[in-house]
Amino acid sequence: MSIDYSQKIPNNVNLNSDRVLQRALEQWQPNFLSWWGDMGPEGSHQNDVYLRTATSAEPSGWAHFDYVKMPDYRWGIFLSPQVQDRKIHFGEHMGEDVWQEVPGEHRANLRRIIVTQGDTEPASVEQQRHLGLTAPSLYDLRNLFQINVEEGRHLWAMVYLLHRYFGRDGREEADALLQRRSGQEDNPRILGAFNEQTPDWLAFFMFTYFTDRDGKFQLCALAESSFDPLARTTKFMLTEEAHHMFVGESGVSRVIARTCELMKKHNVEAPDQVRALGAIDLQTLQRYLNFHYSVTLDLFGADQSSNAATFYNTGLKGRYEETKRGDDHLLKDRGYKILNVVDGKLVEKEVPMLNALNEVLRDDFIKDSEAGVGRWNKVIEKAGLPFRLTVPHKAFNRQIGTLSGVRIAPDGRPVSQEEWNAKVSEWMPTAADRAYVASLMGRVVEPGQYANWISAPLSGINKQPLDIPYVRFN
Ligand SMILES: [Fe+2]
Ligand SMILES: [Fe+2]
Repeated sequence: MSIDYSQKIPNNVNLNSDRVLQRALEQWQPNFLSWWGDMGPEGSHQNDVYLRTATSAEPSGWAHFDYVKMPDYRWGIFLSPQVQDRKIHFGEHMGEDVWQEVPGEHRANLRRIIVTQGDTEPASVEQQRHLGLTAPSLYDLRNLFQINVEEGRHLWAMVYLLHRYFGRDGREEADALLQRRSGQEDNPRILGAFNEQTPDWLAFFMFTYFTDRDGKFQLCALAESSFDPLARTTKFMLTEEAHHMFVGESGVSRVIARTCELMKKHNVEAPDQVRALGAIDLQTLQRYLNFHYSVTLDLFGADQSSNAATFYNTGLKGRYEETKRGDDHLLKDRGYKILNVVDGKLVEKEVPMLNALNEVLRDDFIKDSEAGVGRWNKVIEKAGLPFRLTVPHKAFNRQIGTLSGVRIAPDGRPVSQEEWNAKVSEWMPTAADRAYVASLMGRVVEPGQYANWISAPLSGINKQPLDIPYVRFN
């Protein structure tokens, strides 16, 4: 039996002529589909969804839009075009040719990096699998499914690297990526935030704004890698990631817009009055923001890390926008300020930058995150309301690194455990907040209609009108 792999698995990696890779993927693909059947979006398998499918790595026309059933989605393997004579541009191998195969001495670290990234992709699909049942519109339902299939493709992207470059242990890791489960006690996903629940659509929008943005920064750092296939794979994944963050930013923005609209119309400000109108009060939005932001900050890892130094020195993982930076790209004599805890107080401490590269990436993420929060505040300001959302202090609610040992208020003030216990319900979503938000969730299926708690988007997908049936139920 001969299979046309360019049809079955769209790719630009010459799958048709790579028998070893074909055999590996043939074994893995049925397991992937059965994972999708079990853990993909609940009750969605018969739906026709207006989806984007990556079909090439050419910027001019890399994607195709059409109605597809998600189990038939053509998960493909794409690498950004190879740059001729690309050189390693940071760390101790600087100036040498980039690697087209995995150097033996970096094999274990590269595999670990790829597996850790790969694990987040199916994890988020698992976290989001019930959300389709309560989508606030067909437009939003489609966006959820788009993100889900693309996270599935990102898993394919990492599995391609494992199968193609890591032999038998790569295949074992690829199988394990389908066996771990988000939030499962005995076999959880690797990183903390990917074991949290995404129980409602406000959580989903916050997740795609903040946590997919962690993805952006990790992918950007890996797109600098000296292992060229990893650099090219992650570079292409970034083209899809942009839409995920758009869904988050515009989603939260639409929730804010609707809340402000109702507050103005009924001339109310108190949270319980806002809730009486069936909207999400801005205070609850702030608490969700605090939670998702702080949990996502932990994904960058410990503030001091010898692994981070090794990954950089050996050229495996660069900094965000490494090429645009004007320093020596070795960083041997440079320092970086991190936060330390002395007598229960936060003080700055200078450490070697190489050891603080997790913190460098985290600080880049923080800048990028704050920009969008500023845009959300513009929506509130335009409505003439005094409330402003804020990004909590980076030491707030941290579970990893030096800061996990202290209790810090959102404004950066160290607090006692007693004060934390007394105030935490003002700072983080309570069970009652979550129950209230959950009470608003209900599926809206008429094209062009939206749940009461969220405003309409500004425009449709792929220049389509807003009122087309973005998802058809069968
Ligand atoms: Fe992803
Ligand atoms: Fe994503």
